[in-house]
Amino acid sequence: MKIGSGELVAGLISGANRDPARYRDPDRLDIRRDDGGSISFASGIHSCIGIAMARLEAQIAIGRFTRRFPSARLIDENPDIEPSALPLTRGYKRIRVAV
Ligand code: HEM
Repeated sequence: MKIGSGELVAGLISGANRDPARYRDPDRLDIRRDDGGSISFASGIHSCIGIAMARLEAQIAIGRFTRRFPSARLIDENPDIEPSALPLTRGYKRIRVAV
């Protein structure tokens, strides 16, 4: 792709994290993924300084939920996605699970 002078370029982390040339089965949430890490926390000099805290919170939340509800299953295979308040991110409106 050729980018012209003065054109606006926006890097989308969520898009990069789903690059099929980089990740196996990129749309699948796999917390044991071993294909090299994501760029969710950016990289370089301005990478996220809250990375350890964010990872710890996720480990606690996901760990407690899966221990408490070991048979939890998705009700909707494709939950609704909605834009978030931030311009370049999005998330699920709700994820319904049976426990
Ligand atoms: C899942 C949770 C989080 C994600 C996905 C995330 C993601 C990111 C990303 C992508 C950047 C780089 C932004 C840029 O280059 O413009 C960033 C920067 C930053 N994050 Fe986070 N973050 C998270 C949680 C946190 C937490 C918990 C803290 C603080 C306790 C935090 C503090 C910061 C700060 C201060 C920066 C700016 C670093 C700099 O510019 O040098 N983040 N984060």
